[in-house]
Amino acid sequence: MKILSIETSCDETSCAIVVDGHKLLANVIASQIDLHAKTGGVVPEVAAREHVLKIIPVLDECLKIAGCWWDDIDAIAITKGPGLVSSLIIGTETANVISFVKNKPMIPVQHVIGHIYSNWLEITDEIEFPIIILTVSGGHNELILMNNHHDFEVLGETRDDAAGEAFDKVARILGLGYPGGPVISKAAVNGDKEAFKFPRSYLEKGSLDFSFSGLKTSVLNEVKAYGAKHKISEVSEIPEKFKNDLAASFQEAVVEVLSDKLITAYKKYPKVRELHLSGGVSANTRLREVIQAKMPKNVKFRHPQSMIFCTDNAAMIAAAAYHLYKLAPKKFKAKTNITPTTSFEIEKFYA
Ligand code: KG4
Ligand code: ZN
Repeated sequence: MKILSIETSCDETSCAIVVDGHKLLANVIASQIDLHAKTGGVVPEVAAREHVLKIIPVLDECLKIAGCWWDDIDAIAITKGPGLVSSLIIGTETANVISFVKNKPMIPVQHVIGHIYSNWLEITDEIEFPIIILTVSGGHNELILMNNHHDFEVLGETRDDAAGEAFDKVARILGLGYPGGPVISKAAVNGDKEAFKFPRSYLEKGSLDFSFSGLKTSVLNEVKAYGAKHKISEVSEIPEKFKNDLAASFQEAVVEVLSDKLITAYKKYPKVRELHLSGGVSANTRLREVIQAKMPKNVKFRHPQSMIFCTDNAAMIAAAAYHLYKLAPKKFKAKTNITPTTSFEIEKFYA
């Protein structure tokens, strides 16, 4: 089954064509990173305007790369939410028109469920349920128990900032640019992770929730203290060594909490066969390394097969859509009008 998928929930315009939920024919991503780097973060109106400009060229390129035309496509998958409504609507309206004009069944997908299915892309073996997934993005941060396809239970979530958001904010504090994850992890390579003793917020004993806003404030306080001590008012005047040490110590604090919580979740559900990592922060090599080291050896650890499957992409939406379609093919009809949503509600999304 060939699914053409569209993802425009934030600042990536992406279209993909995926066969049977795992085999990629095309996955075209027009990133807006350079545009948003100027403002140090995503401005929704700017993102939406860029999606308008990019969606048709990206769609055309996707069909061209895949060597497909409309007759080859069995269904359309679309990110319905959560995300920026002004961005989502460009994708949903495009999908609505295609579904109507080309008479293709439409499969709406929840964005975070899309991230979860990024681990199905380009694999050749079978994933064994139940699974615990740590999904860490700029907008979301959850621990999820997955008993079967599209059968989810949220075990824990962030009470304030998501991990990716913390990376972005700390990068901004240090004047390192946007998005924060890649620049912080690059700076951390040359830094000392023991240089600063940042707080690890585990919340109540056994809690599987997360909190990263206190950590971000601690980083800000260190920068302010350094500035006051050395009479520096511009972040550009802060020496590279200080920034690298801060980046490494901050990253270690995030990685330690994320990996410990994943292992705590596993101990609560020892029947779990696999532990998965997904979302933009799953691109972090230190996080992968530390999870791998703490993992029980009889459980399989997966993260996306390619770095481009970690951050937002349409291929993961097609993978999620395929398994949803297989559960109830008659449910998905052509000419259905999909409207965007900001709601997360993972367990109730398709109800
Ligand atoms: O999943 P994603 O593309 O978008 C959302 O759904 O939010 O995640 C984007 C987030 C950003 O906050 C970015 O800083 C973070 O993923 N990120 C990373 C890395 N690469 C991207 N965080 C840590 N380490 C990385 N290497
Ligand atoms: Zn995402």
